[in-house]
Amino acid sequence: MAKSILVTGGAGYIGSHAVLQLLQGGFRTVVVDNLDNSSEVAINRVVELAGEFGKNLTFHKIDLRNKDALDKIFASTNFDAVIHFAGLKAVGESVQKPLLYYDNNIIGTITLLEIMAAHGCKKLVFSSSATVYGWPKEVPCTEEFPLFAMNPYGQTKLIIEDICRDIYRSDSDWKIILLRYFNPVGAHPSGDIGEDPRGIPNNLMPFVQQVAVGRRSALTVYGNDYSTKDGTGVRDYIHVVDLADGHIAALQKLFESNIGCEVYNLGTGKGTSVLEMVAAFEKASGKKIPLVMAGRRPGDAEIVYASTAKAEKELNWRAKYGIDEMCRDQWNWASKNPYGYASPDSTN
Ligand code: NAD
Ligand code: WQD
Repeated sequence: MAKSILVTGGAGYIGSHAVLQLLQGGFRTVVVDNLDNSSEVAINRVVELAGEFGKNLTFHKIDLRNKDALDKIFASTNFDAVIHFAGLKAVGESVQKPLLYYDNNIIGTITLLEIMAAHGCKKLVFSSSATVYGWPKEVPCTEEFPLFAMNPYGQTKLIIEDICRDIYRSDSDWKIILLRYFNPVGAHPSGDIGEDPRGIPNNLMPFVQQVAVGRRSALTVYGNDYSTKDGTGVRDYIHVVDLADGHIAALQKLFESNIGCEVYNLGTGKGTSVLEMVAAFEKASGKKIPLVMAGRRPGDAEIVYASTAKAEKELNWRAKYGIDEMCRDQWNWASKNPYGYASPDSTN
């Protein structure tokens, strides 16, 4: 019998790529998403890309905090596990609207965990973030590093990690994997699904992409006086397809071992500067990205990259792609869909 997986936030950037890989891996997949930061077009594209497996996807436009609706979904299917992507993720917005973030991310997760427990589904993969390392004192970041939230968004990730550890302590039937993603970029090689942020992008690569297609005039580089190779911030960019693969590896671990509650970094272990990333994208796209140098963005760390040893050893997973493939696939998506899933006149 094919296993059934509930995916919250499955219409979003990372979720849509993971859902495609789940379908291709033979899983039945039920997506719950309120489409607050995504489009149903992404779901339709995933169904098309999955071909004969597309019929194994069911989509519910539901907010995770709607307990009755969630309960009905769990009553109609016996889920083998849940992958929980749903959440708000804009750091700046979380500083402006902390209650929105605590309500959506924390209450949404608590509601999900309550319904899972009520239906005896106790296997979970959760989207945590490298943001929980704050401004790391050294690199690479290992899973044992001290944790620190720099903003309400990061705080929600820390709180949810703690909730998961407490749940496992209270009931050892739970098996939970917390995945700390570094900087996901790129798109599916088909160019049919990818990242499509609403409004002005907060993150580097969606901004670069919008400059390349002519939607923005220049990239503002936040700081060129860091103690790094070229003065710009260094991050661990990871191809979203590799990241999605990491979720399949985590699921296998949940099904095949007595894992308890464990945390894994998902990154490449390599640090790349802003200017190196821009150069790689210019090479992949053939487009010049005009730059405006500016001061440091408040709250930004200097250098962040992952230690990948634990995921390699215990999940038997490692990233396959480098920044050239990330930029190639991101440009393929951008050039095929310059306005993402929307039409040009419906965006800003
Ligand atoms: P995304 O915004 O593209 O996807 C999140 C999805 O969750 C969206 O489709 C949104 O509509 C949905 N959602 C949000 N709140 C919901 C709710 N209450 N009920 C139902 N659906 C809801 O973001 P993403 O980049 O795909 O990120 C997925 C997860 O990974 C998030 O939890 C995010 O915090 C985490 N993460 C992302 C990054 C990154 O840089 N993209 C890095 C680390 C961690
Ligand atoms: C990368 C580098 C910027 C935009 C954020 C969240 C983190 C996680 C991933 C969810 C930095 C520089 C950026 C721009 C720039 N998300 N930059 N001009 O800050 O590492 O992490 O996304 O969990 O929580 O904080 O990613 O893409 O915003 O920035 O120069 O317009 O690019 O200063 O050095 P970051 P980012």
